[in-house]
Amino acid sequence: KRPAGAPDRSLARPVTKVGIVGAGLMASQLALLFARRLQVPVVLTDLDQERVDKGVGYVHAEIDKLLGKGRVGPDKANRLKALVSGAVDKAEVFADADFVVEAVFEEMKIKKQVFADVEKVVSPEAVLATNTSSLSITEMAADLEHPERVVGFHFFNPVAVMPLLEIVKGEQTDDATLATAFATGKALKKTTILVKDSPSFIVNRLLGRFMGEVGKIVDEGTPLAVADGAFAGVAPMPPFFLLSLVGPAIALHNNETLHGAFPDRFYVSPNLQALVAARKTSVYLPDFSIDPEVAEIFAAP
Ligand code: 3HC
Repeated sequence: KRPAGAPDRSLARPVTKVGIVGAGLMASQLALLFARRLQVPVVLTDLDQERVDKGVGYVHAEIDKLLGKGRVGPDKANRLKALVSGAVDKAEVFADADFVVEAVFEEMKIKKQVFADVEKVVSPEAVLATNTSSLSITEMAADLEHPERVVGFHFFNPVAVMPLLEIVKGEQTDDATLATAFATGKALKKTTILVKDSPSFIVNRLLGRFMGEVGKIVDEGTPLAVADGAFAGVAPMPPFFLLSLVGPAIALHNNETLHGAFPDRFYVSPNLQALVAARKTSVYLPDFSIDPEVAEIFAAP
């Protein structure tokens, strides 16, 4: 059955090579998913070789885990590894890519620049997909020569496990682009839904209310561990585990975007701001105890 709002599948263009801008955790998870499900070459790019090597290294390590669990055999594991490569210079490796996804820092200016650079090296039909979690697709596409090939393609963490993919149509996104996005989402075995181009789309807007309210409870004096403990058996993951999984900087950005759009309804936690200012990437240590430095930030008046 065709998802609501999806154009006719016959309009979809084939995807034979995927380019990914960024080689961070989200980008690397995407590289593995695309290689595994589409079985086409996937190239990760980033600002320097160290970042690129780290991204490719993550993908190879995840493939080894799949091998260890018996999810893929040794031949398939080797084939998958051979499909994923990395490069610093996008020009050569993206020239024949027909689907490019950006998963770089969540800032409009940076994402616009990325697409402007990519547009110079890909064909006019190549789809430019953005994994933005909150920003406007219409605005991101506005200054491009071909804004009609830009589409939102928003995944959830952990990418391999979470079933949903939000597909976002910008004002100028054309039907061929949208059909290609839906067909690709289906090939990736995700549940695809068309969402409106509005701040944080659907899931992150709901999560923003939820995380904002939990943040307020803690800011008002409830200890963090007590707030998390209240969710035992209620949610798949307590809120501050979720915050650590998503990353405090991304969560803060989401809440700031939503607060900017709907100031009466969204809360920006000063403790979360302090956490990000201290460059903390997780509330919990690997042994699941609360990081004492985080506890200190939250205890500060
Ligand atoms: N990366 C890859 N795979 C992972 C993983 C990770 N970080 N974490 C867990 N998994 C896999 C495990 O390997 C396991 O796979 P297997 O069945 O093949 O062995 C499977 O997930 C289940 O893991 P576990 O049994 O260890 O743990 P749980 O049953 O507790 O499930 C969870 C883990 C799926 C992460 C679950 O806790 C959950 O659903 N949490 C909520 C996650 C969520 O809400 N994500 C959305 C965040 S918002 C977002 O991402 C948007 C962005 O824009 C900010």
